[in-house]
Amino acid sequence: MSVAAVLTAAGSGSRLGHSLPKALVPLGGQSLVAHAARNLLAARAAGDERVRVLVVTAPAFHLDAIERELAGFADEVALLVVAGGSTRQASVAAGLAALLADPRSQEVDVVLVHDAARPLAPPSLVARVVDAVRAGHPAVVPGLPVTDTIKRVAPHRGVAVEPVLETVPRGELRAVQTPQGFARDLLVRAHAGGAAHAHDEALAASDDAGLVELLGEPVWVVAGDERAGKITTARDLAVAQLPTEDDE
Ligand code: CTP
Ligand code: MG
Repeated sequence: MSVAAVLTAAGSGSRLGHSLPKALVPLGGQSLVAHAARNLLAARAAGDERVRVLVVTAPAFHLDAIERELAGFADEVALLVVAGGSTRQASVAAGLAALLADPRSQEVDVVLVHDAARPLAPPSLVARVVDAVRAGHPAVVPGLPVTDTIKRVAPHRGVAVEPVLETVPRGELRAVQTPQGFARDLLVRAHAGGAAHAHDEALAASDDAGLVELLGEPVWVVAGDERAGKITTARDLAVAQLPTEDDE
């Protein structure tokens, strides 16, 4: 039995506004996708278990560039680079299909889904997610308590002043991150269940656990990590350049 990871890197990074697709943008001398792959592969879960198969979704016109970025990892993991889809959900589904079609995935029973947009998610976080799945939780997401007060509003297109409907009890909120970890068969079922909406950005799921929830199956939260923050804007990239404490 072993662990595989689907690393999503097929987005364009329109909000980052860089000339390169976001996954190829450098951060301290390495691309975001290379950082994310390195951190995934450095993780050691209980029993020294590590990621054995890595599927990366790439922008269709940048398959070669992503392959070149990751070539250095090919001797430590079974590596597959595939074209992503029109939404994140469609990209994960494409990565999952490629994983299932590859004979090297036969032993895989746990699948992580991780975003290249979270390049500094540390190995300790990856291991925590795998350990929780191995401990009997078939769908696991890392989450951090929310520090802002969150209000639900009734937005109306073109109306600048929005009415508040309620203040959501903050103690119950978690801002969730990736990697998310799943029992392989549950993730396959979740993507099959959500397939009808996969290509519509307005309806597609923004995370994989959301698809599991739609099946009515339980999802579990483990402690997230601030270092796993998502790079969306140029400001996020600048913050990620700031020095941090070494990963444990
Ligand atoms: N992603 C993907 N396929 C898509 C869209 C997104 O694989 N069609 C991946 C991105 O590469 C990223 C993750 O999903 O690692 C989260 O998406 P996001 O942060 O929104 O990245 P982008 O879609 O690239 O950015 P933007 O929305 O600003 O264009
Ligand atoms: Mg996006």
